[in-house]
Amino acid sequence: MTKNSLTVTDNRTGKQYEIPVEDGFVRATDLRKIKMGDGDAGLLAYDPGFLNTAACRSAISYIDGDKGVLRYRGYPIEQLAEQSTFLETAYLLVYGELPSAPQLEVWIKEITHHTFIHENIKKFIDGFHHDAHPMGVFVSTVAALSTFYPEAKQIYDNEVRHTQIVRLIAKMPTLAAFAHRHSVGLPYAYPDNDLSYAGNFLNMMFKTTEVKYEVNPTLQRALDVLFILHADHEQNCSTSAMRTAGSSHPDPYTAMAAAAAALYGPLHGGANEEVLKMLREIGSKDRIPGYIERVKRGELRLMGFGHRIYKNYDPRATIIKRIADEVFSVTGKNPLIDLAVELEQIALQDDYFVSRKLYPNVDFYSGLIYEAMQIPVDMFPVLFAIGRTPGWLAQWQEMLLDKEQRIARPRQIYVGPEKRDYVPMERRK
Ligand code: CMC
Repeated sequence: MTKNSLTVTDNRTGKQYEIPVEDGFVRATDLRKIKMGDGDAGLLAYDPGFLNTAACRSAISYIDGDKGVLRYRGYPIEQLAEQSTFLETAYLLVYGELPSAPQLEVWIKEITHHTFIHENIKKFIDGFHHDAHPMGVFVSTVAALSTFYPEAKQIYDNEVRHTQIVRLIAKMPTLAAFAHRHSVGLPYAYPDNDLSYAGNFLNMMFKTTEVKYEVNPTLQRALDVLFILHADHEQNCSTSAMRTAGSSHPDPYTAMAAAAAALYGPLHGGANEEVLKMLREIGSKDRIPGYIERVKRGELRLMGFGHRIYKNYDPRATIIKRIADEVFSVTGKNPLIDLAVELEQIALQDDYFVSRKLYPNVDFYSGLIYEAMQIPVDMFPVLFAIGRTPGWLAQWQEMLLDKEQRIARPRQIYVGPEKRDYVPMERRK
């Protein structure tokens, strides 16, 4: 008997089984051999929401939720936020190593030269109602891009895959900014290839009549760091959607539309939008205790608080809090920040939050920064999507190249009716 195993006794039958333990996990398929008899398909692992099920081996991001640690390809998020750029981090995520200077130069050039979108995509965007949520526009147009690049279906061709990865990272800010311009009725501002990735996004969002948009370096850097902080986060809901949709082998545009759709919800990428709504609803510091009581009674959730993995301060929230001060030195203070800080302090002293290890997450302060930068609230999840794009693509590529991966197809525990005969209409009650 090897030490790296579990000995399981099935008390239903009295039989014993040896289940191998590899790298701290057991294979759920090994449970199949635990059967009541010949007609039994074997024991299943039941795990709604995947609380304790690993779906892959991944070498991309690492989180220690108890210690509040996040690393991309081994590099601490604090060091990347301090010293890297979003495009360099994107390269790291997709290709596993930091680029050399020539590699980075080529990568930036490639991405910069793929920022334009086909004019027909603009026509799709024109077709949306003026008040369409930009995330809805974004999800649809990412999917629509697939029809412009039919070669993208060749997902096992390294060169084709690389080109689509470049296109997707390059075009996301353009789709995002165009969705915004449509919603406010402004003409689209085309990409300016002289500007940085974040600078060009700000240009496409805010350029009006000036010949050349002047980017504020502090805001440009802040946005770049925010993109870095959002770039990957192991098997979160949208990344799992990317892997699940991608596992049936569609092109990456279609798979990424599924990921963006998963991001849209208020429990994921929509949370920072909800934080601002919540802070406005609270309105003033004296109303915080009453609001906290409602949360504790289960009437609402404190948005921007809590995380499936972090049971300590989200390291991204710490960095974001620092960026907030830098941004406010340019834009002026967002009046909601004092309310947010007070709310955090009160919550972190309350046993309800302490005992459940609920701390501020990445979304608690990011919305305040975006708002100070004049970015409308409904664009917040879209900004999250721009940042998360390299992570989705890195995870999609890793999944495709992983020989152990198959089409995603979870099992179920059937709880419906037993076999019964069809009842003709005249005999139904
Ligand atoms: N406010 C109040 N109570 C909460 C909150 C919250 N934000 N989050 C969790 N709880 C409570 C929950 O009611 C439960 O209590 P009890 O044990 O008494 O039933 C306990 O804490 C465990 O919660 P859970 O729902 O089992 O935790 P989960 O891991 O399924 O959910 C979460 C994680 C992020 C969905 C959740 O914490 C939440 O809804 N937070 C607010 C939304 C939010 O800020 N989302 C952004 C997440 S970070 C960005 C991203 O990765 O998308």
